[in-house]
Amino acid sequence: MRTQLVAGNWKMYKTNQEAVELVSGLASLVEGLGGVEVAVCPPFTSLADVSRSLHELGSGMALGAQNVYPRSEGAFTGEISPPMLKALGVTYVIVGHSERREILGEKDDFVAAKVRAVLDEGMTPILCVGETLEEREAGGALGKVEGQLDADLANVRPEEASALVIAYEPIWAIGTGKTATPADAQEMNSFIRGRLAAMFGEATADKVRVLYGGSVKPENAAELMAMPDIDGALVGGASLKAEDFAAIVRAAS
Ligand code: 13P
Repeated sequence: MRTQLVAGNWKMYKTNQEAVELVSGLASLVEGLGGVEVAVCPPFTSLADVSRSLHELGSGMALGAQNVYPRSEGAFTGEISPPMLKALGVTYVIVGHSERREILGEKDDFVAAKVRAVLDEGMTPILCVGETLEEREAGGALGKVEGQLDADLANVRPEEASALVIAYEPIWAIGTGKTATPADAQEMNSFIRGRLAAMFGEATADKVRVLYGGSVKPENAAELMAMPDIDGALVGGASLKAEDFAAIVRAAS
């Protein structure tokens, strides 16, 4: 039985003070909701203070980072290492988000190195995969995602694969208000699980949480997460409002 995971990707929103306020509001709203794991992924600049707030509030919410550089230290101006994140209490790291692939030009081999680096530090990668609208309309959605999984998980050993989290995020659904239908998202998530089974074995694939992300809102969260292969949500815009994010967590619990 997989525990649903609802993770908020705050992207480049919230100053440090705003981030601390958001997490405090959220903590009281999600307290006591069972059967679901909740994670917040603030910008790097507020990881330390959000971590401290979660601790002081006694909140069970997990802390995630939105990115990482795949080396433990060195002359990499502007980058943040896995040990730096680990030291702040980070347990999840988003890797391969389409905004980094498309805007910052990150390629699969770089994403694969990040997956490896996050696992090496004992944290859990949330690997994002997904197709563009053109790829979907040309019938290439499954092929695109299959290629990303094969390349990005190339350095993962079968015995460590069950801890992975994969997020299917169709690029055309991110920040657009357009959501994949529950049936379309289920089809892709089931395909992803099948691919994981081929790579790591069926028993392992059964344990991996495969999330959906892309305009998840309080109004559509329940029907998406009711699908058998959708094990939670990676939420962007709606995670920036405590009430909306809490409503999505409630839908999963
Ligand atoms: P939205 O929920 O704003 O569409 O963003 C989804 C996303 O990219 C989460 O990583």
